[in-house]
Amino acid sequence: MNFPKSGPLRATLLPVVLIIGIIIIAISYHSSSFSDSRSSATSSAAASNSADLLSATHQEALAKHAYNASLGFGEIVYISMPERTDRQDAMSMLASAFGLKLKLVPGVRGTGMSPKAIPEGVPERMQPSELGCWRAHVDAWRYLLDSDIDTLLIFEDDLDWNPNVKKTLETLSLQMQNSKIRLTEPSNYERERAPYGLDWDVLYVGSCKDGANPEFKHIAQIWDDPDVPDIEHLKPATLETLHDYGLVDADIGRKRVLAPAYWTLCTTAYAITRQGAQRLLLTMSYLGLHAAVDNDMSRIFRDGQLRGYTVTPPAFSQFRVGGSKDSDRVKLGDSVDGKGNLHGENANLKGSARQWVQDTLKLDNWEEYRRIRDEKFVEAIENRS
Ligand SMILES: *[C@@H]1O[C@H](CO)[C@@H](O)[C@H](O)[C@H]1NC(C)=O
Repeated sequence: MNFPKSGPLRATLLPVVLIIGIIIIAISYHSSSFSDSRSSATSSAAASNSADLLSATHQEALAKHAYNASLGFGEIVYISMPERTDRQDAMSMLASAFGLKLKLVPGVRGTGMSPKAIPEGVPERMQPSELGCWRAHVDAWRYLLDSDIDTLLIFEDDLDWNPNVKKTLETLSLQMQNSKIRLTEPSNYERERAPYGLDWDVLYVGSCKDGANPEFKHIAQIWDDPDVPDIEHLKPATLETLHDYGLVDADIGRKRVLAPAYWTLCTTAYAITRQGAQRLLLTMSYLGLHAAVDNDMSRIFRDGQLRGYTVTPPAFSQFRVGGSKDSDRVKLGDSVDGKGNLHGENANLKGSARQWVQDTLKLDNWEEYRRIRDEKFVEAIENRS
C-alpha cells in the first residue's frame, strides 16, 4: 500500500508523531534532571547530609534498628558446646520467639588443643575447659573479621534478657549517638549506619560485674530507663557499682549507666567492632593469654590496651538453674541436680525472656475447645429460639 502524500492519513499521523516527540523530550528531561539531582547530592553530601544525620528524625530511625533480627548489630552469634543441645534448644526457642537470628559458634573442649596453638603466658593452673572457652571466643572474633559486617554481638548460651530488651537497646543507641563520654565526634559513616557508634572495641551489654576506673568514674553517661530492675533484683555488687557511678538510692530501679569498661567481668553478652576483634586477637592470642577469657579481657581493659563501654545494669544476664547444668566445666560424674528451667533465675534484670516465652506459648487446648464449644452451644440455642 502506498502512503498518500497528503490526505486524511497524514492528518492523523502528525499528532501521533508530535506526541511521541513530546514523550521522548519529557523522558530525557526527567532522566537528566534525575542524574543532576544525584550528582549534586553526592557533591554536596558533606554539607547537607551531616546536618540531616544530626537530626532527631534520623537518629530515631537509626535507633529503631535495635528492633531488627540482629538487634541493630551486624549479626549475632552464640557460643555453645556441641554437646549442650539442651541449651541450643533453648536458644532456638528464645531467638525465634523474639525474632532474632542467631548463628552457632561451636564451643571448644580444649583438651585436644595442640600445645603449639596455646598462646604464650598461659598459667600452669589454667584448665583445658578455660582454654576451650577462650578458643571459642577467639573463633567468634575471627568470624567478624572474615565477614563484612561492622559489629558482632556475641552471646553465651545460658543467657536471659528482659522481654523489653529491644526498647532498652533503642534507648542505648540514642544515648550512644549523643554520648558525652566519647573521645571523638562520630564520623558521618557512624552517624549514617552505626546505631551504637564504632568508637569502641568492646561493648559489654551483658556483664555480671562492673567496676569503675576510680580516676574516671565521674564521666559516666546516665539516663532514665523504665526497664531497669528494682533494688531487690540487683546483685549487691551491681548496686555497689551504681553507687560508685554517683547514683543515689532514689535512682536505683530508674537509671541505667554507660561507662568506660574497666573492671568488667563475664562475657555473657558483648559486642565487638572490627577494630575490637583485631585488638582482641593481638592482646589475647598473638601476644599471649594470662587468664580465663573474661578475666584476661578485664585485665587488658585495666591496662588500657582496649577501649570499651559497659552498660549497668546489663541488658543480658546469665540464667541459672543450679547444679551441674550451669557449668560446662563440671564432669557428668559430679552431676548435682538443679532447680530445672521452670525454676531457674536471672539477676540484674527486670524480667525474664525465658519466663515470657513460657507464658506466651502456654496453651490449655481443651479448655479453649470447651469455651468455644460452650459459646457455640449458647449461640445454637439462641438461634433455635
Ligand atoms: C540490623 O541493623 C544493623 C545496623 O543498621 C545492620 O547492620 C544489620 O544488617 C541489620 N540486621 C538485619 C538482620 O537486618
